[in-house]
Amino acid sequence: MGIAKTLIRNTFELAGFQITRSAKGQYKDFLVFENDEFFNPLYRAGLKLTSTPDGGHKRKARFFNLVQFYNSVRQLDGRSAECGCWNGLSSYLICKYEQVSNNSFRGETHEIYDSFEGLSDLGSEDSIIDPSLRPLLGTQGGKKGDFAATEDRVRDNLKEFGEIRFNKGWIPDAFPKENDTKYKFVHVDVDLYEPTLKSLEYFFPRMVPGGIIICDDYGSLRWPGAKKAVEEFCKGKCNFVVLSTGQALIHAADSNPVSVEIR
Ligand SMILES: C[S@@+](CC[C@H](N)C(=O)[O-])C[C@H]1O[C@@H](n2cnc3c(N)ncnc32)[C@H](O)[C@@H]1O
Repeated sequence: MGIAKTLIRNTFELAGFQITRSAKGQYKDFLVFENDEFFNPLYRAGLKLTSTPDGGHKRKARFFNLVQFYNSVRQLDGRSAECGCWNGLSSYLICKYEQVSNNSFRGETHEIYDSFEGLSDLGSEDSIIDPSLRPLLGTQGGKKGDFAATEDRVRDNLKEFGEIRFNKGWIPDAFPKENDTKYKFVHVDVDLYEPTLKSLEYFFPRMVPGGIIICDDYGSLRWPGAKKAVEEFCKGKCNFVVLSTGQALIHAADSNPVSVEIR
């Protein structure tokens, strides 16, 4: 310790205070995702490739969770799907983690559902409940058309995975009516009540036992409709776990016997 620091410490101790080192700057050492040598280079590459703004530490934690849960079901049979891809970052990471066990993977078991015109119309369920939160929540998000990226652009971003099945259109119309495909992993990241609910209704009965659905927006104060949709959907049907990042994880362990009414 330098002389100046010792002097300051001693002075405070004489006055009856104890100086302890702040966790700031150190706490990163305890966050597994900040030190994950596989995830970090991929995440940085994905941000760059898809021109996704670096949403900082909290967003990074959500993406880390996403791929950890993908990893946990990677060996199951079934396809993966993402509802709401924006520039393609989460689909990129899911496909990269699939490559761990299948080096020649080119996206052949992954599907994307997106309007490629951004958010759909907001419903009453999507209004921020507490207006005093508005200044805190910033301006991005919150109106039709936000998060628009063209299909061509996303295909280009994900050209390493040229066999991804793209389904352009508004959810739920974008979902094929006749579809007996089974899914092991679905990422629902459409922000709003209606498409979140419709995505859960569509995919939950199609999950393999042990499969996982992640809803990215459950805990977001900006997107109260997503929380409502998950709670409404799961009531009496399935369990979900809320993560500290705000994501909700829905276990599909017992999805098969459940019949879901499509509204
Ligand atoms: C927050 S972004 C998704 C972020 C993305 N998962 C990532 O990796 O960065 C929300 C996406 O949902 C899509 N979306 C919102 N409402 C939709 C709807 N009703 N039908 C289809 N896509 C929708 C938007 O076009 C946008 O791409």
